[in-house]
Formats: sequence, C-alpha cells, structure tokens
Amino acid sequence: MKTINFGIIGTGLMAATMMEAFKQVASVNVMAVASESAERATSFAARFNIAKAYGSVDDLLTDAAVDAVYIVNLTESHAATTIKALQAGKAVLCEKPIATSEADCLRIQEAATKTGKLCMEAMWTHFLPAYQRLFQLNATQGLGNPTQLYADFGYPTNKEAYPRLFKPSAGSGVLLDRGVYPIALAIKLFGNVKQINAQVTRNQDGVDTEAYLILSHENGCKSQLSTSIQSLQQNRAVLSFTEGAASLEPPVIGAEALIVQSVQPHQATYQSSLGLKAKIKQMLKQSALLRKLKSKKSLGKRHFYSYGQNQYVPVLNHFCGLVQHNKLESDVIPLSFSSEVLRVVDQVKAAV
Ligand SMILES: NC(=O)c1ccc[n+]([C@@H]2O[C@H](COP(=O)([O-])OP(=O)(O)OC[C@H]3O[C@@H](n4cnc5c(N)ncnc54)[C@H](OP(=O)(O)O)[C@@H]3O)[C@@H](O)[C@H]2O)c1
Repeated sequence: MKTINFGIIGTGLMAATMMEAFKQVASVNVMAVASESAERATSFAARFNIAKAYGSVDDLLTDAAVDAVYIVNLTESHAATTIKALQAGKAVLCEKPIATSEADCLRIQEAATKTGKLCMEAMWTHFLPAYQRLFQLNATQGLGNPTQLYADFGYPTNKEAYPRLFKPSAGSGVLLDRGVYPIALAIKLFGNVKQINAQVTRNQDGVDTEAYLILSHENGCKSQLSTSIQSLQQNRAVLSFTEGAASLEPPVIGAEALIVQSVQPHQATYQSSLGLKAKIKQMLKQSALLRKLKSKKSLGKRHFYSYGQNQYVPVLNHFCGLVQHNKLESDVIPLSFSSEVLRVVDQVKAAV
C-alpha cells in the first residue's frame, strides 16, 4: 500500500491526542503541521517529531507532498479550512462537527463534488466494534423491530478547563461539541428526522450548555436525547426493540460494553387461586434480601467489544482505506449524513 503523507491542521488538545493514534496506523506518514501561529506549529512539530512546521494553513496546503489533511482546528474554522483543502487537491478528514451549520456543510459537499476529492467527518464512534454490533442488531432486527433510542452525553465542565466551549462564537456550546454524538447515533440508526421537539438551556453569554431533544424519524421511530456541559448524565445509549433492548454502556462515547436483553411480550395472568409455584414466587418477592440479590444481577448479557489500544485508530484505518482505494466518499459517514446531523442542530439551536 502507498504511504499516505498527512498534514495536520491544528495544534490543540485533540491534535495532540490523535498523534498517538496516527502512530498505530500502517502506511501513514505525518509529515507536516500547520497553525495560525508559527511558534505553535514549531513546538508541536518538535514534540511529535514532524518534519515540517507551517505558520499558515495556506502554506501547508501548497505543499505538493501532502496527500491528505486532518483538520482539527477550532470548530468555527472547520468548513472554511475543509473547502480550501479540497480546492488545493487534498483528501480531507475533518474533526466533528465538520461545520457549524447545515448550509456550510452543503458548501463542503459542493466543493467535494467539484474537486472530486474525498472528504469525511471524523465521526469516530461509528467505527467502534460495540457501535457496529449495535448497528447490526438494528439492521437485522435481531431483537424484533427497533422502536426507540434513549441516548445522552454529559459531563460537567467549565470555562477554565475548556475555554473554546464557553467563548461565544459560532463553534461553541454543547450542541456542536457533544450533542452531535447522540444526534448522529439516532440518525445512523433510524434515518432522517421528520419532527423535532427541543429545549435548550443557555448561560448568561447565550452559549448552549444543556439540551433535551425528542426526534421523530421518517421511519416512525423516536429518539429521546440529551446533552450537557453542566451536569453528569448517564452517558449511555439504549436502543429498544419489540423483543428486547441493547445498551451501549458508559462511557457511551468510546463504549466497549454492550448489554443485550431479550424479553417476550409481558402477559398478565388472571387466576382465581395461586398454584404452588406462584405461591413460592410471591413469598420470595416478599424477601428484601432476595430482592437485593436480584437487583445486583445484570438484566441482560454483557458483551465486551474492544477497540484495541486506541479508540481513534478504527476511524483512521477507514479513512486511509478510502484514500488508498481512490474512493470519493465514505459509505459509513457520507457528507449527506453530516448535513442531516447539522440540520437537526440548526433547528434545535433555534429552539427557545
Ligand atoms: N473526536 C473527539 O473525540 C474530539 C475531542 C476533542 C475535540 N474534538 C474536536 O477537535 C477540534 C479541536 O478541539 P481541541 O480540544 O483540540 O481544541 P483546543 O485545544 O482549544 O485547540 C483549538 C485551537 O486552539 C489553538 N491553540 C492551541 N494551543 C494554544 C495555545 N497554547 N494558545 C492559544 N491557542 C492555542 C490552536 O490553534 P492553531 O491550530 O492555530 O495552532 C488549536 O487549533 C474541535 O473542533 C473539537 O470538536 C474532537
């Protein structure tokens, strides 16, 4: 396989995190990094042993040796940087969210079509083995018909720890940073959204810090989602079927554990007198100790789907495979999928 020469655009926390993942992908050479600051580019290059450091994105994009770029700068810069990179003839892997609005995502789609270059949003969770198993159960109706999804993603944080989330800008707020994960999961499972009911909490600067959504999908299924940067949520996703449920266990973002529970539809029995078996069952129900023991038992079967050493390697492998096979679009995260996620975010953001 031909080695893919990557340029990294961005020098923040996520750029540094991804360097560990890049090291574990075969046929990849991270050869350049670009920042808005020459100093940050130089120091990032020295830290990760990258050959070239550019103090401007344009300079990296004119480097003919760079085949593909990983865009990981501030969210509000993603769309413009992605379009520039496509126009410079690079294949693009862009961090989530690929844009701050559906309109910008549609502009990216147009640029990808015009330039004939590969472009994909790095929605990495969808490549994790536990998620793939959930998608398989959903598609094969392994537990009956899928009907609804409950998913949340929320941890408290603050301005000091994550200034970019709280600084009023087109890219800040919980919806674009965290909300996109449960929304993307819902759309992956049930398809496009027909109706949205939402409530959004904003701080004194107008930045969204918590959101609650009910989505009605075109296929008739419903998703109940929430996201927060002010409270600790369950961080779980439960997909309900007519004959069971499958639950991505905390931490849902990066989940490896999937609990699968199957049930037969509940049937009420009306009896004039109880048989011996039913009498014993009733007696056991009256024992607090037995109820305590029962409550400790997991409700379903817990499966563990490991992603290996690094959770970001699967998405990188997928993208590199696309580059190596001259594909123009990902079949897992096509740009039309990213646009639908951002259409929902736009509408939720418009909620009072
Ligand atoms: N997939 C995931 O799990 C995941 C996790 C976290 C974040 N993300 C995404 O990745 C993107 C970047 O997030 P991040 O957490 O890396 O943000 P960040 O740490 O705040 O970095 C964002 C930008 O801030 C600038 N910066 C870095 N160090 C700086 C410093 N010491 N002083 C001033 N500015 C500095 C950099 O600009 P220059 O590039 O110009 O140097 C960098 O691109 C976001 O779009 C986010 O949604 C994804």
